Amino acid sequence: MNRADLIVGIQWGDEGKGKIVDLLAMNYDVVSRYQGGHNAGHTIVVDDKKIALHLIPSGILNPKAINVIGNGVVVSPKKILEEMKPFENLEGRLFISDKAHMILDYHSDIDIAREKLRGKEAIGTTGKGIGPAYADKITRVGIRIGDLNNIDKLLKKIENYISLNLPILKALGVECDINALESEVRDYAQKLKPFIIDTTKLLWNSLNENKKVLLEGAQGSMLDIDHGTYPFVTSSNTTASGACSGTGLSPKKIGKVIGIAKAYCTRVGNGPFPSEDLGYNGDRLAEAGAEFGTTTGRKRRCGWFDVPLAKYASELNGCDELAIMKLDVLDGFEKIKICIAYELNGNKIDYIPNDLDEVTPIYKEFKGWNSVVGIREFDKLPQEAKDYVKVIEEFTNTRVGMISTSANRSDTITL
Ligand code: GDP
Ligand code: IMO
Ligand code: MG
Repeated sequence: MNRADLIVGIQWGDEGKGKIVDLLAMNYDVVSRYQGGHNAGHTIVVDDKKIALHLIPSGILNPKAINVIGNGVVVSPKKILEEMKPFENLEGRLFISDKAHMILDYHSDIDIAREKLRGKEAIGTTGKGIGPAYADKITRVGIRIGDLNNIDKLLKKIENYISLNLPILKALGVECDINALESEVRDYAQKLKPFIIDTTKLLWNSLNENKKVLLEGAQGSMLDIDHGTYPFVTSSNTTASGACSGTGLSPKKIGKVIGIAKAYCTRVGNGPFPSEDLGYNGDRLAEAGAEFGTTTGRKRRCGWFDVPLAKYASELNGCDELAIMKLDVLDGFEKIKICIAYELNGNKIDYIPNDLDEVTPIYKEFKGWNSVVGIREFDKLPQEAKDYVKVIEEFTNTRVGMISTSANRSDTITL
């Protein structure tokens, strides 16, 4: 029996999952997202052409792969239709789970209004309505993509939702016009109908027919609702476990797990980030790595590779290997730091404590190198870069299986 392989971010997102999924998709028949929504921004660069994907899986550039949006994803019909526009002939190549929950405009309005109310305590969400849509799912008042198959029932559900939540919506200044929503959802239903199916069955059948399935995580392990830096997290299980609930595949059907990590570390939004560099080096990493969000354009906070965090994520996900991305961004640094442990209340620790904002990073310094950009063979890397990768491998106790040396699909070393 075939098992589905899994790509998962092991830091705070934007590790380069899109590049690796796109590259690997050549060898897969099916690529499926399992959680998150259009808060994700996965950038793919092929022949210097850049494509940013938010909901459509990063397997879409492989003409042979079927792309699936699993039940664990929250789907904005408006956004997916926008994203589908530049692609031709998606019918039969893209499927959306009938069980995936729907994001409508009021979800993002609620998200933005709540963030405003939080003021200085804001999470720094993408404002896409992710939290409110997952909240509706968990409180059992959500609407699902499959509801587009019965518009009268769907409208009744939305009407009930609005009347139950009216005082809250009013207090937040969120307007919901049921008449406008009606014409919107009728349009969504008509356009999305060919794509809505039971994707769990599709994935089961694919594996039973010995097809190769790749599961594409969004966000990163430290943004996991349970295991991340709560409350500064997203609203889904971004770790490997989310792939089971978010697709309907049992843990027995999960094969190889590849953790995607930057050779340094970034974070968008608020919350603890022990190895953040607030000085010159942080700015230099941001500039060299073009660290501006694909989804919101926000500048990403930058810092050094964090070993305790990567070890934690590797264990949480059961990583068989790591892909070390953006090694070229460290080109030209005289010294490169790695956070190898933390100090907490006078003790040296190498795990992730609940009060991660209280730790002080302990660094080890390594000699930098001149350039690795575009290198496609491990042997051709400068010795210092080889040593750096080996240190990550040794400290995280996880094999490094891939190294990325530019945004381009082909500039990748496979070990
Ligand atoms: P994702 O959310 O994990 O898919 O990552 P993003 O696409 O949001 O952010 C990663 C960014 O780095 C994208 O702009 C990629 O094109 C780019 N990128 C990926 N790998 C490399 C690499 O090895 N070197 C450089 N310089 N850029 C890379
Ligand atoms: P990809 O898939 C980086 C962050 C937001 C915020 C927090 C909660 O491209 O790696 P949300 O809108 O999800 O409620 O925001 O999570 N965040 C991401 N950061 N990459 C992402 O996705 C992210 N998706 C959400 O910045 O801190
Ligand atoms: Mg991203």
